[in-house]
This record gives sequence, structure tokens and C-alpha cells, in this order.
Amino acid sequence: MSITSAQKKNKLPADSHLRRWVDGAVVYQVYPRSFQDSNGDGVGDIPGIISRLDYLKDLGVNAVWLSPFYPSPMADFGYDIADYRDVDPQFGTLDDFKKLLHEAHARSIHVMVDLVPNHTSDEHEWFAQSRSSRDNPKSDWYIWKNAKSTLPDGTPQPPNNWLDVLTGASAWQWDETRRQFYLHSFHAKQPDLNWQNPAVRAAICDVMRFWLDLGVDGFRVDAVYWMAKNPDFTDDPPVHPVYAKGPATNYHTLRHDNSMGWPEVYAYLSEMADVLKEPAYRTADGETDRFMVTEAYPEGKSSLDAYMAFYQGVDPAVAAPFNFDGLVLPWQARTWRISLASFHAAMATCGPRAMACYAFGNHDQHRLASRWPEVAARGIAVMQCTLPGMTFVYYGEEIGMHNVTIPADRVQDPATTGGATGGGGRDPERTPMQWSDELNAGFSTAGRTWLPLADDYRTNNVAAQTKNPHSFLTLYKKLIQLRHDCDVLRYGDFAVLPMVTPHVLGYVRSFEGKRRVTLINFSPEPVVPELDLELRTCLVSSDPRSKLTESFVSSTSVELLPYEAAFFEAA
Ligand code: GLC
Repeated sequence: MSITSAQKKNKLPADSHLRRWVDGAVVYQVYPRSFQDSNGDGVGDIPGIISRLDYLKDLGVNAVWLSPFYPSPMADFGYDIADYRDVDPQFGTLDDFKKLLHEAHARSIHVMVDLVPNHTSDEHEWFAQSRSSRDNPKSDWYIWKNAKSTLPDGTPQPPNNWLDVLTGASAWQWDETRRQFYLHSFHAKQPDLNWQNPAVRAAICDVMRFWLDLGVDGFRVDAVYWMAKNPDFTDDPPVHPVYAKGPATNYHTLRHDNSMGWPEVYAYLSEMADVLKEPAYRTADGETDRFMVTEAYPEGKSSLDAYMAFYQGVDPAVAAPFNFDGLVLPWQARTWRISLASFHAAMATCGPRAMACYAFGNHDQHRLASRWPEVAARGIAVMQCTLPGMTFVYYGEEIGMHNVTIPADRVQDPATTGGATGGGGRDPERTPMQWSDELNAGFSTAGRTWLPLADDYRTNNVAAQTKNPHSFLTLYKKLIQLRHDCDVLRYGDFAVLPMVTPHVLGYVRSFEGKRRVTLINFSPEPVVPELDLELRTCLVSSDPRSKLTESFVSSTSVELLPYEAAFFEAA
């Protein structure tokens, strides 16, 4: 189907399908420190990423999202930015980034960069100015407050009880020069910007323009809930012990009702979204073509309400929130049926451009293949690649990389046992990419890499899996290829199948009279789901032992192996 000029102008009725690079895109998250080291210092870098673009092209991804590569003291491994408009020498130069952009685009791979609007590094020049006095021009670019009181020994007490996400200690840091506290919702080296200040908002919009002018296609926007807090700075209430969830860390002793997630966040993000719609960033047809995906875990809220607030509060033509159900829901058919049906029913009210953005892994979460048995993780790959919208694949998930146990003397992550993630930190899911059975898995020639390699890298690596027709990687490639070739997957409507068989999730994608069906068995037993539609060829199964051979042509009755997920043409 070709796009009519009316569609291009977005004037067709709500069910029209608009084709943009984001529609159905598979986005591959690169954590630059761990992807490929080109200069033997044990840390990945941008020239390294460039050298692996052919791999990404072959994998078939439509875009990459690069976690931060900006100048940084690396207190939070790049999420503490000291200069929004340059590249940290550890990762290369701005010219290297420009080359990466050019080379990626030459391979039809779009590039999204990480944008961290809530905080900078304490080594950013804005903060250096802000902390220099109480009356400099940037004095209110950050959040400064007087001590609430002073102990008899002279120790100043923080203005309220808010806690820092990474360590669970007070989110306030005393500064001797201003003799005031500054707020850091994350690490003490990540002071929060004051988003109530229009000059700060304008400065971040300028940062966006800087990267858009270079040609980046979009942003992943970090930690957005913290941009807006209770302007009265009221204490966070304690969690009622009966309702306490998650790891019992100091951070989780409070409900973060006041320190994050105030409604102004949508207005702030809308200002950013407006930048994406400026004439300079439209295509020759006048279409908006840039996009941003926002990171907000629906902590303490209904996830559906939380996601919908973003679709309703920020123009869904250019922005969407991550759907993190793949990180938080149990692997249960009934839960997923309810979640997908309600999410997509609500999405349908948000207009034809509203985009689901599914993530089943990222640099803050345990590896998929460590959260679930490998058979289930393969089923998740089928699900992830057959759902509507954008889907995000964290580097290494395509070969089923596992969490790596980090010896105490090699720990890097500043997150501690008191913080939101609890014990163990996030290093286990950030270890170097496993390319081959060579030294350091082909990641680096260094004597020591920044994080240790997984023990299994000699057998579990890209080179070995490329040769194996039944490997995780082969499955992913097949799925991504299918998504690429199949309009139904990229643009099709979505409906959960009413299913009487327990432990099975089924859904239909449909587009221009064609239908495709995904069936997923969530149980360790084989199952024959009751279906009231006719399945045709099975296009892919998660399980190499599947009985759903390619010769299978038409049936209303199929047997799924334990945890098998399969994708079919349907009548
Ligand atoms: C986001 C990032 C995480 C970082 C935090 C602070 O949650 O994903 O890695 O530590 O924000 O920037």
C-alpha cells in the first residue's frame, strides 16, 4: 500500500496506517562501555560500535539506542553528564559519533541517543556556577534548600526525608560554599536540575536541537518522573508494612508520592516534544519524523493509568512511554491476557499514531535469560517480536546472555543494597558482549576488561550461535526478519484471543485482510489450546523440537510444547 498525500498530512480517519520508521521498529540498545572496545583499554567505545554495525544490519534491527557516551566522571557510568554536547574521550570524539551516525544511516539503521534531563553531573559547568554563590545567574538552575534545623554539634539537617534511588540514603547533600543542601534524586554526584525554571527547560531543549541538527532520529529520555516533584517539598509518607513490596531496602521504606511523578512532568515533556515538531526536523513532506521514548516505571500506580497519562499528556505523534510490563509482570498467561487487552484497548483511544514501546530488558534489569528459564526466554522473544509498536532488545539478549556474578573487588555500580535495586547492583547485566571464543570474547584486547566476562563466553557467543540453526540468535534473526517482511506485524491491529485453555496466551494481528496469530504456552506441560479460528502455516516456533513443522498447512488444533511460543498465518 502506498501512502496517499492525505495520509501524509495525517488527515485520514483514526484507523489509517501511517508509516514511519518507528512503526514496528526493532530498537537495539547498545551500552557503549560493554559493546566493543577498539583501543584495548577494556572499555567499549564508539569506533567499536561502528565496527559492529554490519552485525546489527545482519541482525535486522531498525534502530539503535545508545546509552550515554557524553563527557562524565562516570559516577553512574555516564548518566552523570558533565557536558551534554560532546563525547567522553573514553568513548571517542564527536567526529567518531558523526561517523557512527553516517555509517548507521548508510545501513538504514536509525539512531536514538539517551537524554538525561533530570540531573547533570556535579562536574557540569552549570552546577559549578550554581554552587558558587546564592546569587549567581544559575543559582536556581538546581534545587537548593536551607537546612531544616541544625543539631547541637552543628550538623545541618536535610529539608525533608526524601531518599536517593541509588543508595537509599538522604537525597540531600550539604554544600559548604552556599551553606545549603542540593537535591540529588540519584547519586550525590547527580544534582537535580530545577525544571520549574524556564531557563533550564530552554537549555535542555537546546541540547535536543544540538543532537537533532547532527541528524539523530530520536531520544530515550531518562528518569522522567523525577523532573516534577511536589513544589512544597513535603515528606514522603512511610510505606505501610502490610503493603511493602519488592526488596526490603531503605529506599522502599517510603512511598515516593512527593519526590517524583507530579503532573507537571507532562507539560515539561510536551515542551521537549514540541522541539521534535519544529520545521527543521520535519521530512520534505512536512511529516514529523523524530521520536522520543520516556523512561518511567509505574511505581506504586496502576501501570495502565501510568502509561495512559503519558499518551494523553504528551503528543503521541512524537512521544511514547516505555511499557515495562515485560520487566515486572509474572510469566503467567492470565496476567498477560489482561495486561495486553487493557493496554491496547486504551491505546486505541489515543489516535492512530500512539505507539506501544515494549522493553523486556535493559541495563538496569537482570538479564532475561537469568530471570526466566531459557525455553521461556525464547518464547518471550517470539512475543516481543510479534507485539505491535516498537520493541527494544538489550544488547546480548539476542544470544541469551546471562547475569554474571561480580566478585566484590570488581564491583562498579554505585547502586548499593539500600537503594531501589537492592543487593547485587546492576553490573551483572552490563558485562561485555560475547562475540566469539577469543580473548575477552572478542570484546577487547585488554588485560582486564571494565567488568569481567561471563564464564560461558567460550561456548555462548555470536560466532558459535551464528553457525547453529537452532540457536537463540538464529531465532531472533528469523523473528526480526519476519517483522521486517510482514506488514501485518509492523502495522497490523491487535486483539487478544478469548481463550478458555488455561496457561495459553493468544493474540491476532490483522492488516488489509491478512491475519497472523501468536500462541504462547506459559506452562511446563504440553497443551492443545481450544481455538475458534483456523491456523495455517507456522512461520516460526521458539522451540527447535516443535511439532509445528513447516509442512503444517491448516488446523484448528495444534499442540504446543512446554513453554513453546509460535507464530502462524491464519485464515
Ligand atoms: C535511569 C537509568 C539508570 C540511571 C538513572 C539515573 O533509570 O536507566 O541507569 O542510573 O536513570 O540517571
